[in-house]
Amino acid sequence: MCGIIGYTGTERVASDILLTGLSGLEYRGYDSAGLSVSGESLMVYKRRGEVSALEAAVPDEGLDGTAGIGHTRWSTHGPPTDENAHPHTDCTESVAVVHNGIIENDQSLRDELEASEHTFESATDTEVIPHLIENALTTGASREEAFREAVSRLDGSYAIAAVFSDSETVYAARHESPLVLGIGDDGHYLASDVPAFIEYTDRVVYLDDGQFARINPAGMVVTDAQGAIVETAIETVAWDPEDAGKSGYDHYMLKEIHEQPRAIRQCLRQRVTELDGDVTIEELASLDCDGPVQFVACGTSYHAACYGAQLLREWDVSAQCFLASEYDAASIPVSDGTLVVGVTQSGETADTMRALRAANRTGATTLALTNTVGSSAVRECDHAMLIRAGPEISVAATKTFASQQVALAMLASVLSETCSAPPVKRLRTLPDQVQWVLDTSNARSIAETYEDADAYFFIGRGYNAPVAREGALKMKEITYKHAEGFAAGELKHGPLAMVSDRTPVFALVTGDATATRTLGNVTEVEARDAPVVAVTDSPADVDQYVDHVLEVPTAGPRLTPILANVQLQLVAYWVANRLGRPIDKPRNLAKSVTVE
Ligand code: AGP
Repeated sequence: MCGIIGYTGTERVASDILLTGLSGLEYRGYDSAGLSVSGESLMVYKRRGEVSALEAAVPDEGLDGTAGIGHTRWSTHGPPTDENAHPHTDCTESVAVVHNGIIENDQSLRDELEASEHTFESATDTEVIPHLIENALTTGASREEAFREAVSRLDGSYAIAAVFSDSETVYAARHESPLVLGIGDDGHYLASDVPAFIEYTDRVVYLDDGQFARINPAGMVVTDAQGAIVETAIETVAWDPEDAGKSGYDHYMLKEIHEQPRAIRQCLRQRVTELDGDVTIEELASLDCDGPVQFVACGTSYHAACYGAQLLREWDVSAQCFLASEYDAASIPVSDGTLVVGVTQSGETADTMRALRAANRTGATTLALTNTVGSSAVRECDHAMLIRAGPEISVAATKTFASQQVALAMLASVLSETCSAPPVKRLRTLPDQVQWVLDTSNARSIAETYEDADAYFFIGRGYNAPVAREGALKMKEITYKHAEGFAAGELKHGPLAMVSDRTPVFALVTGDATATRTLGNVTEVEARDAPVVAVTDSPADVDQYVDHVLEVPTAGPRLTPILANVQLQLVAYWVANRLGRPIDKPRNLAKSVTVE
């Protein structure tokens, strides 16, 4: 997956806008970056590495032109090199193209184009597009017709932008990859996501699959695949540009961890009544579900989904949780009454989208639980519930996990007839309790104590089991160290063999009944010399069994795990910080994984 941006305006140097926009999109990929600005000829700059490398390559005074496109890449076809960086051009260098997605028929198109004397400079699937445009132009097609003709030859998923030499127009098309247009006072924008241009405008138009756009300084036109003009709705996004900056924190991840009280408040706002804790989710007023619930999700969102499924089961609703990449609607019984919920921060994850599309085909009702207005998940599901966490830039998901858990607790209470009000009522005090954890946490000193460990293990039972797995995922992705999370009872069935005095075990000891049993597992690892850190809401009872305590307030068995997770996020962050890792952009990863 990658990030793309386009700009055309009257007053600004396009390269400055494009570079700023690419910084806002770097979470989508950061192994190479490039841009092209239209002048008498096309100016193209591209570099392996982060946007800063591209910035250093572009002349200080910027490029003389007011229209251009840019790209930040996460490699799928071809390694991250200068040659494979986007934009790609045709043989005559009159059109430059950037692309996010995968062209599935690129090899057959490449064979066809090479047979007609086109020369390729890169190993990417994208490069077929400018050559297809070049071909269409030689038949006398206009630039817009040539762009449309080229796109019509593509199989796969794409958000594409193209700019021609000596032109103020940027062309774009979307199919199964996100694309949003921005309407500014002195120019128009297009991008994979709003942070690319939020500094300049908050008025946006989300493109639908199969739509094309043409932007120039005078305006924008959206059409369907046949060229017929499509009416579009202009939306105003509620993001503050400050939300997309680091606000003094060293990393977005730390900022986002600290934003959790606010994120949870936003998620709850106008959904839980002050008096009795009744939940009303306006977006779901028309949701009528009395069948089983299936969750599909990946990574951190999968851990949140497992938590949601557990809540529903406790409240007498049949619920299962599937890794989206393993979900096969053909072999999993889905009926008209089944509700399939895609839990996805980005709303664009390819595995989750594939699962949701499969569910849509079976006649099940689908619901997107997401952070991203206008995302593919929102557009393609029957219903959508927004988690309202605000922009999350760090690749490692933190505040969106907390918001997903809170949203799932509310969703569970809406779907269940037996849900008891107290846990939901307790949600209202959760933001202050998260703040207490942030203000008092000793995670940093524990991280310092164990920064050299060989591996980290995380154990928990019940609602703490998915949190243990999430703690390990966070540790892995930002520290690059071995970490694993288990249901605590499973430890003795194999993983115990790996435990030693160099493998600290983080035990989630919260919740009345399960806590005692988890303490039993603590004694098992202590007997093998492992240092133990308990994350607990009852330190007085637990202290004697463990080496260190990370305390959390009591929020009941269902919600305390949300607080415990904050401590684990902080431990992972501080270990990664001590190790000098690039925390916001870990190697090999990207924020939104739009390939299967
Ligand atoms: C979380 O830290 C990861 N970056 C990753 O596991 C992520 O949660 C997963 O790719 C799913 O993303 P989504 O929520 O946008 O669908």
